[in-house]
Amino acid sequence: MDTFVIHGGSPFSGSVQIAGAKNAALPILAASILGGGPVSLANVPEVSDVRSMLELLSGLGAEVGELRNGRLALSTQGVTRSETAYDIVRRMRASFLVLAPLVARFGQARISRPGGCAIGTRPVDLHLEALRKLGADVAFEAGEIDVTAPQGLTGARIVFPTPSVGATHTALMAAASAKGESEIVNCAREPEIADTAAFLSAMGATIEGAGTHKILVQGTNAWRPARHTILPDRIEAASYMVAAGLTGGRVEVIGGRLEHLGAACHLLEAAGLSIFPSDRGLIAERTGALHSVDVTTEAFPGFPTDLQAQFMTLMCLADGASVIREGIFEQRFMHVPELQRMGADITLSGSAATVRGVPRLQGTQVMATDLRASMSLVLAGLVAEGETVVHRVYHLDRGYEDIQGKLTRCGARIERVRQ
Ligand code: EPU
Repeated sequence: MDTFVIHGGSPFSGSVQIAGAKNAALPILAASILGGGPVSLANVPEVSDVRSMLELLSGLGAEVGELRNGRLALSTQGVTRSETAYDIVRRMRASFLVLAPLVARFGQARISRPGGCAIGTRPVDLHLEALRKLGADVAFEAGEIDVTAPQGLTGARIVFPTPSVGATHTALMAAASAKGESEIVNCAREPEIADTAAFLSAMGATIEGAGTHKILVQGTNAWRPARHTILPDRIEAASYMVAAGLTGGRVEVIGGRLEHLGAACHLLEAAGLSIFPSDRGLIAERTGALHSVDVTTEAFPGFPTDLQAQFMTLMCLADGASVIREGIFEQRFMHVPELQRMGADITLSGSAATVRGVPRLQGTQVMATDLRASMSLVLAGLVAEGETVVHRVYHLDRGYEDIQGKLTRCGARIERVRQ
């Protein structure tokens, strides 16, 4: 397993081209099953989760072109299988997103039931409830989920008890191919939902309100070939803004958008960063002190759970104590013991971490268990004294395109050691 060896101490300054959002690319690729025709995508991030999704689509019978410079052509016309094996679902939970489009297109699908993962139990009940509401039957058998809708799906009102990004994608894709109208209430409002809706609209669905609490969908079966450009990855952009904040640098995140940052913008500013728009995106810099700020992760536009670990690294060097509460996933603190190994002063209690700023972090060997936790350790390495070795770089490959290149071009001293 490859490692990153980082020598801390250089300010992170320069420009970073932000890739397309992984968490929009994955549902959009799954949604391409619905249309059964050619699809042409731009700004597709070249990350391993996207490659896993392309492998999954190929396995189902799709014709997948080469992903180059963010461009990808594919056709799901040849998809004939509607079963997704445990091996792929285990590797990538977002595989579950193919369930709704397969049921919509074939009237039935079978998928392995995802287990827990490094950040929490992550149930799929809300996805299945949405499909039931639209007329599907759901049955469980030895680790597999069978979903059937032989007469097709029928429009309905789906009210989520709590907003879920994945379940909103599932409901949206299923409703887009159901007979009649659907209303999806208390849905997730993340920008990636609006992007999936834009793609479904390009394929022929009629959707209103994506990005708000209530989405209205007019189903269709008259799908057409579509072109779509995936929106920029707000978490990637914010991660590099944190790098500038940590090291007292200045970064332009090309493609970054203020409206995608939600509460993160205000909280990064409260921590001491200046953030302002540029011709090409956003600029973030820090010239003064780093301040402690309390944060609770929430659904969009609240502070994103996908930025919690990176923000915690920032707070490790701030001038007081900050309380970071995780409101979305119960176990998303796996980076805490690793940051402690680097000298951070963090006390964990249930879903809250109290971070007391220390004057410096020390480089050492660290290991993480998920994508964002790994990024928090890389960020810590950028500012730590001496050498930091981050193990299990494959976690980063899942969601950060060309991370080493982007960091190096902004002055970081980082080397990938292949093993
Ligand atoms: N939940 C349920 N039942 C469900 C679905 C979700 O109880 O059927 C709960 C979850 O356990 C969690 C909450 O609802 O407590 C929200 O989870 P959500 O469904 O919104 O998360 P997700 O769709 O599984 C996506 C992203 C995650 C990101 C979360 C929250 C993708 C592929 N993944 O996951 O991204 O953290 O939304 O914003 O879009 C990452 O990129 O590192 C990542 C983990």
